[in-house]
Order: sequence, then structure tokens, then C-alpha cells
Amino acid sequence: MKQSVQSLKSMPEWHALVEHHQATRDVHMLEQFNLDENRFDRFSISLDSILFDYSKNRIDQTTIELLSKLAIACKLPEQIMAMFNGEKINTTEQRAVLHTALRYQGTAALMVDGVDVHAEVKNELQRIKPLCSKIRSGNWLGATGKPITDVVNIGIGGSHLGPQMLTEALKPFAAKNLNMHFVANIDENQIDDTLQNLNADTTLFIVCSKTFTTQETMLNANTARDWFLAQIPDETQLAKHFVAVSTNLEAALSFGIEPQNIFTMWDWVGGRYSLWSAIGLSVMIAIGMGNFEQLLSGAYEVDQHFKTEPYEKNIPVLMGLLGIWYNNFYNAEAIAVLPYSQHLHRFPAYLQQADMESNGKSITLDGQSTDYSTGPILFGELGNPGQHAFYQLLHQGTKLVPIDVLVSLSNISGESKHQDALMSNILAQTEALMRGKNKQEVKVELQAANLTEQQIEELSPHKVFEGNRPSNTFLFDQLDPKTLGSLIAMYEHKIFVQGVIWNINSFDQWGVELGKQLATKILVELEGSNTALTQSSHDSSTSGLIAHYMSHRK
Ligand code: F6P
Repeated sequence: MKQSVQSLKSMPEWHALVEHHQATRDVHMLEQFNLDENRFDRFSISLDSILFDYSKNRIDQTTIELLSKLAIACKLPEQIMAMFNGEKINTTEQRAVLHTALRYQGTAALMVDGVDVHAEVKNELQRIKPLCSKIRSGNWLGATGKPITDVVNIGIGGSHLGPQMLTEALKPFAAKNLNMHFVANIDENQIDDTLQNLNADTTLFIVCSKTFTTQETMLNANTARDWFLAQIPDETQLAKHFVAVSTNLEAALSFGIEPQNIFTMWDWVGGRYSLWSAIGLSVMIAIGMGNFEQLLSGAYEVDQHFKTEPYEKNIPVLMGLLGIWYNNFYNAEAIAVLPYSQHLHRFPAYLQQADMESNGKSITLDGQSTDYSTGPILFGELGNPGQHAFYQLLHQGTKLVPIDVLVSLSNISGESKHQDALMSNILAQTEALMRGKNKQEVKVELQAANLTEQQIEELSPHKVFEGNRPSNTFLFDQLDPKTLGSLIAMYEHKIFVQGVIWNINSFDQWGVELGKQLATKILVELEGSNTALTQSSHDSSTSGLIAHYMSHRK
């Protein structure tokens, strides 16, 4: 349990940052670059093949020192140790938070409730290995004796976003004889579209759900089961085509899955932190265990870095502190994550859950309402197409949106003229955001285009960019499993750092419960015929929409 700390805004470390912000908020980054030719060296860090450049931020050395002091005053060092040591820091659920144990590469034991979790993790990976290699080698035979050609992961939230993001990101490492599919949406169109091109006798379903009670997943899994039995009407064949990942052994067994094909995880892993566990089964099947182990080792390297590096050299800590700086002192409401590598196209969606489900909280660990802003709105898209869509707001809008850009320096499929063009775009965008364009520069440009003085006067305000818009840049040698493991772990720890400073529980998600409860209640009403009940128990909008639905549904 975290020792009670002084309320955040009354801390002297907070006040020092308020004053520092007042004193520096009008400083333009361009001036700072002009004054300090070593700014890039000062504010960039390399870890293995990843370069993290945070020099294009509205900071100086003092900013980092003051933010670090705040983190220390908020007991970040103690909280990091508490998490890694398996203390029950998820206090509302009385659970340890041990996604780091899933990628631990050493030999020490870690006891939680009398059980060595490191040994448990290793055992489960050993159990998965034969299944994985049998499917990949074509030796796992379906109901008619044919090898598996298609794998469908049925899950939602953390049981979907992480595995899907990884499978897409690591496509160049995937087995060519297997097609991977992901179904999450309760809208039948997704599972219908997926199943229409598949054959039951060559398809393997992974029912992926920590709880095995999630409405969307169970409905989709039952639809898949019905589809399978319609083609192969023999329940004894289900075992060759359905496997599960869950902590709920009983429910998976009663669904009809064989015990040896149910892989477990633990209540000390949150859904959005679970891709390192058996929840990543689809990824293990796609890229093979060797590559999956590389992913784990990349994350482990960042875990060590996070635990041991001083804060001014600690990438996840700096990521977290920079986020606090903009969120709480510049009142920035949103952040954008903009991968430029095509294969990272699901990375923003994955991070949205990781960040927003973790830090979208307004109650402190002591049960008080926060009087400061917490988790930002995270959005993102592939950066290059995004330039032609929403970047206008990033450059000239009224909102300050700090961005992260990420790109691989080489294309795994080989040299290509696209790579330099890609890099030129990423560099141009972050430079433009930082530098901007002043009125004088605009005038010179318009004079060169032979505009009249009056035209220049009218047009120039629209063409001015104030600049001073922050960005972090992540460059990595290539998008391989180890690098990706490191990147994900950096973001996980960034989220943790911020949760500690905001004194919130980053590991529960009570905010998703109310919608689930109401959906269950409304479903009963939609399936029943008691319209009077429907009318009386809702507001007029919800009742009106229900009535409209009832009268229009086919
Ligand atoms: O509703 C939110 C949530 O509980 C997420 O936290 C979780 O990742 C997702 O649902 C799926 O849960 P499960 O793996 O238990 O099906």
C-alpha cells in the first residue's frame, strides 16, 4: 500500500514547477536550439537500437530536475520497487501488478501468496511451445486430417488489441502458411466477414478472455462454435479446433475445450498488460516462440533500465515526466501517438486502452477527488497519412497537442526509395512543429511569389505558424520483436510513472462496469415484450431510442 503522500498541488515540488512554468512558458524552443548547440545530445538517449530524442520539448535542464524532484517526492522509487516485488499495489482489487514477471529473464524466485510466479510463467510458456510448433509445422491436424491454415483470435480489449497490434507489427516474421484473424466486435458483421472465407476443418479458434465471461467474446465464441458444428456436426471434433486462454478454467472447460488446450494467466496481470502472457498465443503461433522470446527480452531490458537508470537518463521516466509537464502545467488535454511505420498501424489503438483505461481516473488512492487533471486523451494514426488529415490542428489549432513519432530506420523487406521519403516527412513535420514560420518569413515568401502588399497583408496571418509545439521522436534500427518489446515496455512504464504522480490506481477499470451492467439490463428488455418496463425505467431519450429500435428491427 502506498504511504499517504501530501496532496499533489500542495507539495513544494509542485509549486516550484508552477513558478518554473510561469517563468519559461513564453520561451521558444527555436531560441533554445540557437543558444545551445548541444541540445540534441543533452536531451536524447539511446537504448540498444532505439534512439529517443526529446530535445524538441518546451524544457530546459531545470524542468527535468524539478519534475524528477516531484516524482521522488511522490515516492516513485519506492513504487517502482513495490511493483517489481509483487506488492499489492492494485489496492481496489487487492492484487499485485506483475506484467514484468511475464518477461523476467533471470533465475530468482518471486513469491506472491506463497507461489513462485517466475516459475509459473516459465511452466506455462513450456506448455504452449508444443502446441505452437505443431500448428506452425502443419502437424496439428483438424477434423478431416488436414493442417490448420487459419487462426482466429476471439477476444476484446486487452485480449485483442495487444495480440492484434503485435501480429500486424511483426508480419515480416510470421509463418507464411498461416492466416491470422482477429474478432472483437459484437456486431455480427465482423465474425460473419471473417468466417465466410474459412473452412471449419482447417481453422483453429483461440477463445481469449481472462475472465471467460465477457459478453462480446462469449457471444462470438458461441457463434464460431455453431458455425463449426454446422459444417462438422460432431462435438468430439471441437477439441481440435478450439483452444482457450483464461484464468477461468471451469468456464473454458464447460465451453467444451480440452484441459490440455486451456492456457492460463493470473489475476496479477491486467488485461491491457497481458500480451506477454498466454494471451499472446496468436502472436506466438504467428511468429514462433523464438521470436516471442525476443519480444520478452526487449521488454526485460527496458524493465532493468527503468529500475536502475537515474531519472535524467531513464526513458520511461522522462516520457512520463514530459507528459505531466504538458498535462498539468500547460493544460494540454490530448496527446497523439503517430507511428510512421506501416506495420505499427494498430499501435495507437493498443496504446489507447493501455493509457486511457489505466489513467482515466479521478479518484486518488486515498479515495479523494483529484483537483488536478489526470490521464490525457490519447489518439493517433499512421503519421504520414495523418499529415493529410488532422495535422492541420497540430500545426495551427488552438490546442497544444504533444506528439510522439515513431519510425523504423530500415524496411525489413530491403532497401527502397520509399524509406528516405518517409524519413523526410517525419523530420519535416517535427521540425515544422517546433520551428514554425514567423510573419517576416511569410512576407518574404509571398513577395517572391509576386503578391501585392495588400494581398500579403491579408494572407500572411493565415500562413504564420507559431511553432513551439512539442514532439518526442523514437528512431529504431528495425521493427523486430526485441525492439517492439522494448517500445511497449517504455509506454507501460510511462503510464505507471504518471499514475504514481497522480496518486491513482492505474490497474483497475471500474469505469467500464456501469455500461456493462446497463447493457445486461437493456438486453433483457430488448429480448422481452414488457414495453411498460422499458418506458418506466429509463430517461426519455433512452426509452425513445429503444422504442425506435423495437419498431424498426427486422
Ligand atoms: O471491459 C474492460 C475489460 O475488462 C478490459 O480491461 C479487458 O482487457 C477486456 O475487458 C477483456 O476482458 P477479458 O479478457 O476478461 O475478456
